[in-house]
Amino acid sequence: MTVNRSKVVIVGAGNVGSTIAFNLVIAGVCDEVMLLDVNAEKARGEVLDLRHCVEYASRNIRVKTGSYADCSDADIVVITASAPRGGTIDRLEMLGATAKIVGDIVTPIMASGFNGHFIVISNPVDVMAYYVWRLSGLPKNQVIGTGTALDSARLKTLIGELMNIDPRSVQGYTMGEHGDSQMIPWSHVTVGGKSFLEIVADDRARFGEVDLEGLLSRTVRSGFEVLSRKGNTQFGIAGATVGIIKAILFDENRMIPVSTLLDGEYGESDVFCGVPAILNRTGVKEIGEFHLTPEELRRFHASADIIRQAIASLPP
Ligand code: 2OP
Repeated sequence: MTVNRSKVVIVGAGNVGSTIAFNLVIAGVCDEVMLLDVNAEKARGEVLDLRHCVEYASRNIRVKTGSYADCSDADIVVITASAPRGGTIDRLEMLGATAKIVGDIVTPIMASGFNGHFIVISNPVDVMAYYVWRLSGLPKNQVIGTGTALDSARLKTLIGELMNIDPRSVQGYTMGEHGDSQMIPWSHVTVGGKSFLEIVADDRARFGEVDLEGLLSRTVRSGFEVLSRKGNTQFGIAGATVGIIKAILFDENRMIPVSTLLDGEYGESDVFCGVPAILNRTGVKEIGEFHLTPEELRRFHASADIIRQAIASLPP
């Protein structure tokens, strides 16, 4: 009997990587979790600690550390390693240092014979996802940046708080850069299936004049609101990453806004951008193309241009 064993490798055993690993172990998402870090002792410590929660997990999970050579049979490799963000608000400022780190990771992993899916978290994530795609030579559906998956969750949280409703009852995305230039296609934001704009317009007494630009700004700054208080973010990005992992491993055909290579969609090409995409065991199965208003499209193009300019500064 051949048993399909699912294996997820996480490169970077810091706050984000170890939180993702903990999620995977407790929820029994895959059969094996491997944690790698340049600080081998840190990775080993996290692995030993994680093994102690298997008793209370939903099933037995193998938790290991190893090397890049062990990625040959991995289904998914998550890259969390980034340059220190410091106090910078603009993730693009991390590009040069993170590109060096990412380049030193992808090359040996591909040398192992890896042919699974990369999920890239390293910031600036749209640029780093493009870089991993280019360095790895993998098909575009196998390289996914977390992109605006986290920003969209933050937007839904804010709307949920505004309306006192479960954020999961809000449908909507942010699109473009996981960063300052992202945009919200308000024409496609719904709550319980009804247009958000119609809801607030129909109930001015309750909502007053909703400041859409203010909601966008708060969404964009959500990460900094966390970073400035605790020195990092981890739970939001880990939750988004585990959602992407489950969509792939469980072949869910779930639509999640991720950073993926555009090849004509929304009139953009040769750029990784946050767009709604259907994810399943093939990775990115299909990009969701919505009819954006002229102003929404203008903002999306502006965001894609910022990412493209940053891509141009990647090492050759
Ligand atoms: C964030 O916004 C890590 O960039 C990620 O939390």
